[in-house]
Amino acid sequence: MCGIVAYIGSNPAVPLLLEGLKRMEYRGYDSAGVAVLNGELQVVKTVGRVSVLEDRLQEKPPEGSVGIGHTRWATHGDTTERNAHPHTDDRNGIAIIHNGTIENYASLKTALQERGHKFDSETDTEVIAMLISEFYDGDLEKAVQAALREVRGAYAIAVLCENEPDTLVVARKGSPLIIGVGASEFVVASDPTAIVAHTTQAFELDDYQVCKLTREGFRTSTLDDVSVTPKIQQLELDLEQIELGSYDTFMMKEIFEQPRSLSTTMRGRLDKRDGKVVLGGIGPYARELVRARQFLMTGQGTAYHAALIGEYLLEDLAKIPAKTEYASEFRYRNPIIVDGTVIVAVSQSGETADTLAALREASDRGALSIGVVNVVGSSIARETDAGVYLRVGPEIGVASTKAFTGQVLTLMMLSLFMARRKFMSVDTCQHLIEELDQVPSYIERILESDDQIRTVTEKYVNQENWLFLGRGYNYPVALEGALKLKEISYIHAEGMPAAEMKHGPIALITDGMPVVFIANQGPQYDKVMLNIEQVKSRGGRIIAVATEGDTEIRKHADDVFFVPPISDPLSPLLTVIPLQLLACHAAMLRGHDVDKPRNLAKSVTVE
Ligand code: G6P
Repeated sequence: MCGIVAYIGSNPAVPLLLEGLKRMEYRGYDSAGVAVLNGELQVVKTVGRVSVLEDRLQEKPPEGSVGIGHTRWATHGDTTERNAHPHTDDRNGIAIIHNGTIENYASLKTALQERGHKFDSETDTEVIAMLISEFYDGDLEKAVQAALREVRGAYAIAVLCENEPDTLVVARKGSPLIIGVGASEFVVASDPTAIVAHTTQAFELDDYQVCKLTREGFRTSTLDDVSVTPKIQQLELDLEQIELGSYDTFMMKEIFEQPRSLSTTMRGRLDKRDGKVVLGGIGPYARELVRARQFLMTGQGTAYHAALIGEYLLEDLAKIPAKTEYASEFRYRNPIIVDGTVIVAVSQSGETADTLAALREASDRGALSIGVVNVVGSSIARETDAGVYLRVGPEIGVASTKAFTGQVLTLMMLSLFMARRKFMSVDTCQHLIEELDQVPSYIERILESDDQIRTVTEKYVNQENWLFLGRGYNYPVALEGALKLKEISYIHAEGMPAAEMKHGPIALITDGMPVVFIANQGPQYDKVMLNIEQVKSRGGRIIAVATEGDTEIRKHADDVFFVPPISDPLSPLLTVIPLQLLACHAAMLRGHDVDKPRNLAKSVTVE
């Protein structure tokens, strides 16, 4: 949601904080700020992107080698300088940055106001600053521990105090926080991307832990001041993965990375010879999974679309009843969890608040929980009983692309894992594994048509209303195609089952309206062709995603993006690629910032 970075060492803090903020800007980009300690506390905040902050800092860069920085996605209060972080207290020269939300901030604020504190912002974060200040009597670490004992909600925080010029205190509960350990210096951030350029040795705090950092070392403790020893580990991330290289945008880079990322997702997990799938993360639960009576799939946004495909795969291949629900709905509707229920939480970040809450709700009611997550060690990964990582590497573009295909592929492998333990023959599984093996090279082939996809996009890019239609496995792909287009190009787009179009949305079709059909040669091809005719006869312009070698489709569609032939259950891995490219080109042609779309954030850690 927001990105936080903090530094203590012997180098100037500002350049390092700015670099970290730029790398984490995808987490939020409404406003940004830094605070640096150098005799006194210097705070600089700006509204807008990190580049605006950078320009302001160039005027008179604060000097000092202890500092904190923040890039914000607004939750409490408007996007103003006053609401931007860092926030300060009114008594002790304390500055704080925060990622997360404090649930009891209103009651704490009232009590603090009654005790004479004057608030400057509408944020929940300023409440923590004041609370720390109340407890401060010369020991920042103790004051932070005491304040956090009063706070309910999620936080990753970094705190400075003018009276302690050589100390940085950080803490976490529910929001990610990683501490990079260098030679006499520490870089703390919500994301390893902000750390890896400086050190690859790092440790994570557990919930309800506080860490006091000085140039000489660190001390980690619980909120009750019991010392704990964290485990320092090597960060599995290299700089190339988080830099643009020759691409203009992370989204385009990540679309083009998919042949490689999906190979990594599959590596060592598919045993072609024995026709089986090996998933270490869920292996110990295999018997429980096979005995399961139903699978509940949940997620939000793109992850929800992947979960829907997972539902189809599990029922079709593994013959297990499955259903998918938005996590935000599931968590509040008093769901019935029968014995033998497995909840599958699908999430790129592993931090989405609704998905995490749905997972907890289902687990509390007795479900076995499985995570299909990208970020290693994230909250969902930690809280599930077992799981399978996507292994697609860091996804930085706000619009999810390689994580979507990683999720679909992982759910495919999960389905095969189950299917082979139930009804699927070795032969069938071997055949599907052989096809999966081809997926990376098939995607390479689709990516070769990037220029054609751009040219087609140019033809329609000024149209403000689009429909995306598909059936069966490609109905969720239609949803995903529409989501991609609207989130980054701000074009109004709806996705739905192709047949549903007749029940109302057909009234929207006017002369020249672009309607994208996923019309690959699957079991419902003929039905899709019928739907194409229904749209065409009302003046809609047809853009079809079709199977190579389909000569018929050209007679019906105005424009066609071809994908290689593949079995229907695997087709979403291919049919979604032209739709990702289409959305990316549309946004670029309309002059939008593809990686930082208006109002969005990469990871939504609020309800
Ligand atoms: C946000 C992002 C989407 C993402 C969704 C779920 O809305 O902008 O791209 O699909 O959250 O995120 P998750 O990290 O749980 O997959």
